[in-house]
Amino acid sequence: MINHLQTDNRSKLEERLPTPQIVAAAADLTQHILDSLPDRLAHSRGVACHAQFLTLTVGPHQAPLLVAAAWLHDIGYAAALRETDFHPLDGARHLRAIGWPPPVCNLVAHHSGARFVAPVLQLDRELDDYPFSEDPVSDALTVADQTTGMHGEAMTTDERMSDMLERHGPDSANARAHPQREPYLRAAAVRVAGRLDSIGVHTELAAIAA
Ligand SMILES: [Fe+2]
Repeated sequence: MINHLQTDNRSKLEERLPTPQIVAAAADLTQHILDSLPDRLAHSRGVACHAQFLTLTVGPHQAPLLVAAAWLHDIGYAAALRETDFHPLDGARHLRAIGWPPPVCNLVAHHSGARFVAPVLQLDRELDDYPFSEDPVSDALTVADQTTGMHGEAMTTDERMSDMLERHGPDSANARAHPQREPYLRAAAVRVAGRLDSIGVHTELAAIAA
């Protein structure tokens, strides 16, 4: 279809299309690493699917980065990658070790407000090896994760947070970090909803910002 477009339109359209290689590589690597964790793989696939939709809220050249990071964000749960037992950090360390671009490693390290959980685990200095940037890509990754359940199903942010607190338990690092992390998760959802609203996409607002 692209071949039939005028040259000007073609270049504009190609700019909007994710470069497939990094996304395909991320999907392949995630499926390989999470092969023995089918629920976690289903969740990662669901997050990547949500992130694909949320590429509407990031710059065209950042779309592949967002979707690739969405695929990879939870690989640190794999037993083979476990070093610190803090999955955002373990995933980012593995990706850095095998040569993935720093922006991907940084997004994985900081997805869903990991910087609020790291101090509870006394891993904040280790996480500082990965710069955090609060921007449309990190917002979209966090919202995609926080609106996807453990089997890849769509959830509201409230449902997801309740589920997380129930699964991890009241004494978990996630529960102890929750008072600091929750405002960030909600603010990211509101920012993403605003970006969708600004381009006339209103259907997901209630589900995302609820
Ligand atoms: Fe996740």
